[in-house]
Order: sequence, then structure tokens, then C-alpha cells
Amino acid sequence: MSTMEGLIGLVNRIQRACTTLGDYGGDFALPTLWEALPSVVVVGGQSSGKSSVLESIVGRDFLPRGSGIVTRRPLVLQLHKIEVELEEYAEFLHLPKKKFTDFSMVRKEIQDVTDKMTGKSKQISPVPINLSIYSPNVVNLTLIDLPGLTKVAVEGQPESIVEDIDNLVRSYVEKPNCLILAITPANQDVATSDAIKMAREVDPTGERTFGVLTKLDLMDRGTNALEVLEGRAYRLQHPWVGIVNRSQEDINKNVDMIAARQREREFFSSSPDYGHLASKMGSEYLARLLSKHLESLIRARIPGISSLINTSIDDLEADLRHLGKPVAFDDGTLLYTILELCRAFDHMFKEHLTGGRPGGDR
Ligand code: GDP
Ligand code: NA
Ligand code: MG
Repeated sequence: MSTMEGLIGLVNRIQRACTTLGDYGGDFALPTLWEALPSVVVVGGQSSGKSSVLESIVGRDFLPRGSGIVTRRPLVLQLHKIEVELEEYAEFLHLPKKKFTDFSMVRKEIQDVTDKMTGKSKQISPVPINLSIYSPNVVNLTLIDLPGLTKVAVEGQPESIVEDIDNLVRSYVEKPNCLILAITPANQDVATSDAIKMAREVDPTGERTFGVLTKLDLMDRGTNALEVLEGRAYRLQHPWVGIVNRSQEDINKNVDMIAARQREREFFSSSPDYGHLASKMGSEYLARLLSKHLESLIRARIPGISSLINTSIDDLEADLRHLGKPVAFDDGTLLYTILELCRAFDHMFKEHLTGGRPGGDR
């Protein structure tokens, strides 16, 4: 395992531990640490294809999707790459002892805990669901799926919903350490993209924004998205990535992800319009691109994260002394785990600085 892969993995574990600790309502100095850890946030209008893009990146079918407001709580999704011969599974933070190997049960659990919090209404809740997927087929990434931006409340929703969703999404994308996936459907006017509008507000230089153009297969005959994909219209600092997700009909017919990825590849390679761009299009390319950028973001932020971690180590040690260790109850054990993780991060960081030679020259 490379040091950088190890660093992303470690950042993931610290993030999980901090979230668990947050759930205990402990009054410790960790929220700042959590804030500093990089992630990828998916932003866009309702039904623009956010959840579908996440599924394509993961290569598994496990999210509630469909027309209308389906995603009603933030989903913090951590992908952990494991050895090829190991079996893929998912695990929720709120069900730590349960390994899900049937991904349709993951979808059901997300629906159930969403309904539990929002009472089957079309309301949203800012309380995140935390899910980890362990798989040989993923790259190490933390992805966050959010409710879609909207302009009008629908039946059963409070008038404040438009603003509530806006504020919720903003609270995630404002973090300077997050990459923004701005999901924009190709069959609508890009000029009115909610995602691009929000991204421009919170990231005016565009260094954190990745434009993702979905539904290329649904454009009117005789039109194409070359103006956008070639960067002539709505130019972003990073080039746009075009995507073809599964249609609702595919989902109803249970077209699997492998077949869908294959078809997406063919869509681009055989397209007279997009053939020349094929190597930089599609969900697999997007996943690799994001992982690469997340790595460089982590690399760039290492000094900041590291000093926060050192402060956290000091605070944690003080907290542990205060609690008296070894402690039997969960808070103490968890604090101890985080402390160990922080120490490991600090150690890896130093190794990273010395090019993998522990104790080498600085
Ligand atoms: P979200 O609300 O932004 O999370 O959007 P979903 O991922 O739930 O997708 C909304 C609907 O659009 C679903 O029925 C998807 O099947 C469909 N959809 C999403 N992306 C594409 C695409 O690239 N092509 C086609 N044909 N349908 C898509
Ligand atoms: Na939707
Ligand atoms: Mg969704």
C-alpha cells in the first residue's frame, strides 16, 4: 500500500471515529478536526442524477433513486479499497455489527432510517447517515450525497424547504476542504444549473469544482453537448465530465452496473460527436479523476491537518487523563481509538515528508 493510499484510509477512519464520538454528544475538541478532513460532495437540482452518479462511481446498486425528492438526509459514504480476494460488504455507523453483502438491503436500510427521521413525509433532515463500503473495486474516497436543490415546495412540504435545502447543501460545500461535484443534466439549459450557480458562489475560482454533465443520452436528436464538454460554454477550471447513467427504465429492468458501465463506455467510444473525448468521459474516468484530486487535496492540506491532529492528540490525552484510563465505557475507548489513529496519521505524515524513510532527513 502506498503512503498516500494509507493516508486517505487513515483520514477515513479518523472521520468515522469523530462522527461516532459526535453521536455520543461528547464535548471534545474534534469537530474542527472533522471539518479539516477532505471529501467529495455531490450537488445538483432534484433528479439531476446525483445518486446515480454516486452509484456509478461505486459500481454498485444501493441508493434510493427516482423522480422527485428521494434523497432526504445527507449520506456520508466512505469507500475503502480492500484486497482483491476479499468479499465486498457495506456497514452503517448506526449498525456497527452488521455486515451487508446484499446491497438491496442497504437501500432498504437507507429508506428506513430516512423515514424514521422524517416520518415518510417529503421533509428533509440534516442528520447524516454514515455508510462505509469495503470493496476491491473502489478507490479510497469519501463521497457525500445530498438532497437536491429545488425552487418550489411540493405538497406536504413546508414553504421553508427551498431555503432549508439550500442552507444544508451550502453548509457542506462551503468547507474549503471539499471537492464539489456539480451535477448538471444535459437535457436542460446549463445556464440555469442550480449546481453551477451554487458552486460559483462558494468556489469562485473553481479550483474545487468538477462539472458533471449527466443524461447525455436524453438530449434532443440533432443536438449535442460539445460546447460544454469542450469548454467553450460554461468553462470551468477542470474540464467537464460527461456521464450516461441508467435510465429509470434500466433501473426498473434491473440492468446491472457492470452492463451499465459497459454501455456507457460504448456510448462514448462509438459516438460521432464524443468519440474524440471518450478517454475523458464516463463514470470510471470520473472516479479516478476524483481520487487523484482528493489525494492532492489531502497532500496540500497535510500540514494543516497534521497540526490540528497534534492539537487533538494533546486535547485527547488531557481528556483521557481526566476520564482516567483505561476506561470501560464507550467514550473513553473511542477517544483512545481516535488518539491512536491521530498518532498513526502523524507518524505516516512524517514518513511521507521523508519520502517513506522513517527517521530520514527532513
Ligand atoms: P437525484 O435526484 O439527483 O439523486 O437523481 P437520481 O439519481 O435519483 O436520478 C433521477 C432519475 O433520472 C432516475 O430515474 C434515473 O434513472 C434518471 N437518470 C439519471 N441519470 C441519467 C442518465 O444519465 N440517463 C438517463 N437516461 N437517465 C438518468
Ligand atoms: Na430524485
Ligand atoms: Mg438523490
